[in-house]
Amino acid sequence: MTEPNSHEGNVSQRGLDNLKPNPLFKNAMRLMANPYHEVDNPTGIVNIGVAENTLMHADLVERFNKCFNITSFALTYGAGFGGSPQLKEALATMYNERFHPIAPIKKEHILLMSGASAIIDALAYNTCEEGDGVLVGQPLYGGFFFDLQNRSRTKLLPVPLHGADPFGTAAVAQYEAAILDARKQGIKVRVLLLCNPHNPLGQCYTREALKGYMKLCQQYDLHLISDEIYALSVFPTKENPNMTPFTSVLSIDPKGLISPCRMHAVHGMSKDFGANGLRAGALITQHNETLLKSCTMISMFPGISSAADLLWRSVLEDKEYLNSFIEANKERLAASYEKCAKFLRQTGIPYKPSNAGHFVWVDLRRFMPTANNSLEAERKLTDKLLNTGVYMATGESFYTEEYGWYRVTFSVDEKTMMLGLKRLAQALSGEEHGDHDETIPNSLGVQKGEVSLATKN
Ligand SMILES: Cc1ncc(COP(=O)(O)O)c(C=O)c1O
Repeated sequence: MTEPNSHEGNVSQRGLDNLKPNPLFKNAMRLMANPYHEVDNPTGIVNIGVAENTLMHADLVERFNKCFNITSFALTYGAGFGGSPQLKEALATMYNERFHPIAPIKKEHILLMSGASAIIDALAYNTCEEGDGVLVGQPLYGGFFFDLQNRSRTKLLPVPLHGADPFGTAAVAQYEAAILDARKQGIKVRVLLLCNPHNPLGQCYTREALKGYMKLCQQYDLHLISDEIYALSVFPTKENPNMTPFTSVLSIDPKGLISPCRMHAVHGMSKDFGANGLRAGALITQHNETLLKSCTMISMFPGISSAADLLWRSVLEDKEYLNSFIEANKERLAASYEKCAKFLRQTGIPYKPSNAGHFVWVDLRRFMPTANNSLEAERKLTDKLLNTGVYMATGESFYTEEYGWYRVTFSVDEKTMMLGLKRLAQALSGEEHGDHDETIPNSLGVQKGEVSLATKN
């Protein structure tokens, strides 16, 4: 008879490591247990915190119900696990038109899986050994911890920027400092991961900064992964017409900067196509066949489903629909952002201007219950927001350098967004209970000029 295993549940150590509490889930659990519903649960929690874009849902549902015919293809393993050649072709056409690559993207450069998370996991698995370091600037999308650590067991190294503009060239030096620091601790850094456009900051990197990162990666023998999952969600804003436009790393000539085999871009269906649930993501790497093949070898586990493959194709292959979809999405994001920003200005809640993605980064430091800007103070404020019936993503879940920053998602229907914002204003003005929907404080006592409307990060 074998001895009973002393491990809890007979689970491997790496399985147990993944059970450690994560701030990304903690508050989301409260939201899920008590979600707002206009009729069934009007005092439930309004969700303006999850990175979901519902602005195009009605159009997409109508389109899919009208155009989608299930064929026997959807019931098979399809063309293998890395996606159909037809979908890769349709994506290559779209990327060539909208990402402006320096060399044309071909279907052979693309691998498809069940989401960008799966792609980043595969890249980590195939570029790093266990324990190798991956640099990501702060604040950072907390999901990267799952993607990089849970299976591949690489080490995400958050890079503090110490006040440098995250999108300009000055921040590059902070990444170099992080590489040298990691070396002192015996960690070999293998990857620099950028999120462009940025989650949670809602802005894009300048071309010059991207060149700086390319050079740095060459100098220190790193791969450069650019998560461009919000690339088509960049929109014009009236409040700040000079925001940095989106530049794909694929559009920069690598000559003299980086060996192109080190450069990889990630995209997907979740954000730009408002379809988180369909689970479809793309890796684009043009000059590294070995990496593409090694990622393909593990794509059997998180393979794109043939049904998702067909659904994405049904949008991409109809050029007229695709173009009108992308433009309508941008218009709706812009309109929703302007409404959100106007509300924040009117109520005196400081924020960083955004022109990309689904969110605005708001500064609630002065509203924290104690002046010491601690994690405890942020958690208390988060509790207060949840008690008032609004869920926003917390600075803690983005590994911010300073506590008290929150991410508001504006890519939701107007009614939901306005109700969430009103509850936010009520919570900040001291009301935790009562009639959520009626009174909005005119101003939260912030002096004119303190609203960081024109501030760059
Ligand atoms: C920057 C970024 N990358 C990747 C993902 C995950 O995308 P997917 O749903 O395609 O796995 C998200 C989701 O929020 C994200 O914000």
